[in-house]
Amino acid sequence: MTDTPVDTEEAFARLEMPMIEAMQTQRAVRRLHTDPVDDDLLLRLLELSLKAPTSSNSQDWAYIVVKDRAQKARLARLYRVLYRTFNPLVRRSVEGDPEAKRQVRPGQWQAENFEDIPVFVIPCYRRTLKHAPVGFPQISVSSFYGSVYPAVQNLLLACRAVGLGASLQTLPIWFVPAAKRILGLPWNVNPVCIIPIGWAKGRYGPTKRIPIEEVVHVDHYGNRAFMSPA
Ligand SMILES: Cc1cc2nc3c(=O)[nH]c(=O)nc-3n(C[C@H](O)[C@H](O)[C@H](O)COP(=O)(O)O)c2cc1C
Repeated sequence: MTDTPVDTEEAFARLEMPMIEAMQTQRAVRRLHTDPVDDDLLLRLLELSLKAPTSSNSQDWAYIVVKDRAQKARLARLYRVLYRTFNPLVRRSVEGDPEAKRQVRPGQWQAENFEDIPVFVIPCYRRTLKHAPVGFPQISVSSFYGSVYPAVQNLLLACRAVGLGASLQTLPIWFVPAAKRILGLPWNVNPVCIIPIGWAKGRYGPTKRIPIEEVVHVDHYGNRAFMSPA
């Protein structure tokens, strides 16, 4: 847990964290300090994140880094419209489950404080005939999004290592045309998600996930060979 912003030099040193520790503890950290994040540090994390693979090594990425207060406020307004629209469904789904209810609170905090978050990173990708966010055959869709999410996960892991809170979010930009207008994106560049970043107030992992035996199917779906008989 990181309660206070970390000095930049110390943050760079923390990049040496063992990979297994970063992977086991990386999770969505939504409660963030409002203190600024050093540009040199952020650029290094973005550089590391872009060591990721892309379909055909196309590297048609654009990272929009939003720090300007007015831009953040525009994104916050868009987010709140979407949050107010869809959050009632989330609330209903966690009704009667105190643990799940507790988990949605940091999301509420973010929706209320979105423009105070120091920086947003919005990974975008250029659509081409081969790599498109919509369309047929479906392979182009998987190649489009699949060219962005490996880099996103790298960024989340790098943030975790240095102690920056971060989370992968899509709801704030679900209405893509509005997000594109705010960000001034050309018609063929699409935002994929938004990663609010700041020094972590919230806690990192360990995370809880479904046991591996339940997830692995051998040779064909349904043959969960690693699961012990009930
Ligand atoms: C494709 C995708 C979209 C997501 N969109 C949102 C989002 O809009 N808002 C949000 O708060 N979290 C979002 N998340 C984060 C997930 O809710 C989070 O990773 C998941 O609940 C597990 O939480 P944990 O990593 O803290 O254990 C998204 C994650 C993914 C992979």
